[in-house]
Amino acid sequence: MADNPTAGQTGLDVLWREEDYLYPSAKFIGQANLTNPDIFDRFSLDRIPEAFREYADLLTWDRYWDKTIDTSDPPFWKWFVGGRLNASYNCLDRHLDANRNKTAIHYVGEPEGEAIQHITYQELWVRVNEFAALLRDMGVKAGDRITIHLPMVPELPVSMLACARLGAIHSVVFGGFSGKAAGERAADSQSHLLISMDGYWRAGKFLDHKEKADIAYTESEKAGHKLDSVLIWQRYPGKYGSPTALVDGRDVVVNDKLQEYQGKRVEAVSMPAEAPLFLMYTSGTTGRPKGMQHSIGGYMSYVTGTSKYIQDIHPEDVYWCMADIGWITGHSYIVYGPLALAASSVMYEGAPTHPDPGRPWRIAEELGVTIFHTSPTAVRSLRKVGPDEPAKYDYHFKHMTTVGEPIEPEVWRWYYDVVGKREAVIVDTWWQTETGGFLCSTTPALHKMKPGSAGPAVAGIHPIIYDDEGNVVPPGSGRAGNICIQNPWPGLAQTIWGQPERFVETYFARYCKDRTSTDWHDWPYMAGDAAVQAEDGYYRILGRIDDVINVAGHRLGTKEIESAALTVKEIAEAAVVPAKDEIKGVMPELYVALHPGYEATEALQQKIMDAVATELGPIAKPRHVWIVPDMPKTRSGKIMRRVLRSLSDKGDAGDVTTLANPEVVETIRKQVQS
Ligand code: WTA
Repeated sequence: MADNPTAGQTGLDVLWREEDYLYPSAKFIGQANLTNPDIFDRFSLDRIPEAFREYADLLTWDRYWDKTIDTSDPPFWKWFVGGRLNASYNCLDRHLDANRNKTAIHYVGEPEGEAIQHITYQELWVRVNEFAALLRDMGVKAGDRITIHLPMVPELPVSMLACARLGAIHSVVFGGFSGKAAGERAADSQSHLLISMDGYWRAGKFLDHKEKADIAYTESEKAGHKLDSVLIWQRYPGKYGSPTALVDGRDVVVNDKLQEYQGKRVEAVSMPAEAPLFLMYTSGTTGRPKGMQHSIGGYMSYVTGTSKYIQDIHPEDVYWCMADIGWITGHSYIVYGPLALAASSVMYEGAPTHPDPGRPWRIAEELGVTIFHTSPTAVRSLRKVGPDEPAKYDYHFKHMTTVGEPIEPEVWRWYYDVVGKREAVIVDTWWQTETGGFLCSTTPALHKMKPGSAGPAVAGIHPIIYDDEGNVVPPGSGRAGNICIQNPWPGLAQTIWGQPERFVETYFARYCKDRTSTDWHDWPYMAGDAAVQAEDGYYRILGRIDDVINVAGHRLGTKEIESAALTVKEIAEAAVVPAKDEIKGVMPELYVALHPGYEATEALQQKIMDAVATELGPIAKPRHVWIVPDMPKTRSGKIMRRVLRSLSDKGDAGDVTTLANPEVVETIRKQVQS
């Protein structure tokens, strides 16, 4: 592990100033969904798994389950076995009696002149039914995979819920990802269809999205998988807005076709609880992304329970999570959790600072938002460009969430003082694509807040920190280790699509006590983050222990970026390291060495940047491309990423005497730090 860019975060002493506590207001506590501390007894370790019935009971079941957990094939736990339900029914149909005319989604397009759409539960149900009928006529049935590559438009949740209605498995790829990334994921999941759009608004520009669908189609074909059709939604129904031509016989313009489906209804298919609801691809240590597979019954139970108790969503709240639905945060806490609770949820298409950094606060004022949910990166950038903006608008949040990356206490305080106007409680929620929902967070009416700490675990989650030798690291020791969860919970992914061995190896192998055991106590889940637990039990998450970089709260694999760079023929070797960044927390910096005979030029640097954007998408673009004469290497030939990382962070290289080529380090240092 010496070569690991984040090595050194476990085992080391962690020294930081303990922050002062802050307390939720009496007003918040007075209205909160969860005020009885008994919940932690009800969800104690010895009451797992049965405790989670409480979350499952928040859903409407077609058939109640016989067995809360089946552990016969460890660690592929099955929850609520024998139960049957439908996710789309739980998010829509069951609300019609009481909430037919309540807004489900307030849709805010990026152009400020465009009217906000207030889509009621009735209207959303109609749209989902009609689209589900169309999909059914195209042959979609339970268990089929559908890749959805859409921006933040209402058609995205409509498409997801239509798949769920038929029992089909959706795989949403973040809209900002490249066509190539979408195509590879479509091939990996063997998707029948690709659902895309003509174009959308981002930072003042109308971007062509259809061109990505064409690339995705060919990319999937190259990977040996032919998609049946490509479905294209129109950003402005009735008007095709892309300069990219439609392909006859393959592309279907959804809005045209939907005219035949007016008034069509599709009964929600009653699905087994443990059938998959969706795949969500995330980065890991190899170049091949992992399709995390989430179940219907377990996942829906967990996101509904945590939306109610940690997000504290009430029917009268206006809830706004500014994440993108293309990430797990959006799946769990824009679509499935809030809609299962009949919440009114805001969706915003564009950049938070467009056309100016007052935009989010104008939206909050206009819609009367009461719960606000975003990432530290968004908070840092809004603070940098418009520190006084929130005070200019008349909105009042009761609750705010931060998610996706560690938040510095100083940034936390601006969020609390200025954005929340000292009225809103803050939850710092730590979790992952794999975990479906929150793991650590304060429970908002029950715990005091501590800036910079995720807080204790949520009910029913029992973390433990192990050092590299498997010893328990006790709270208050000041030492960091690998944070694991001792028990299964219903939100945990079921497997990695098509790679079950990788699921076992990545998350369980290291601390499994007995590989033959069917007792879940022997299978702690290893999250892949380094963490430290303070005396008071609060966890502070330090970052990844693997080759994953967390940029602006988005996970990127260093290997994926490196292989993208290596598609440029001049490059012999590539190494990506996470470098500290004022706004984004960390950003990738790319070091490359060229094949003999090539020159380092600015044009080549640009070519490498472009290659990364084409292969993966602009979010993966490195902050810098450094073309170096050689990579610093160990005598066995491994690239010393640790050395590159400290150079990028303007530090010194440390002890390099054991390197095969120590002299190159000084050359690189001069290049990078001058
Ligand atoms: C990091 C996002 C510190 C962590 C929901 C984790 C955090 C990875 C926090 C998962 C937090 C997430 N504090 N770090 N509150 N939340 N992380 O899969 O490293 O996109 O492993 O899921 O983000 O990222 P993912």
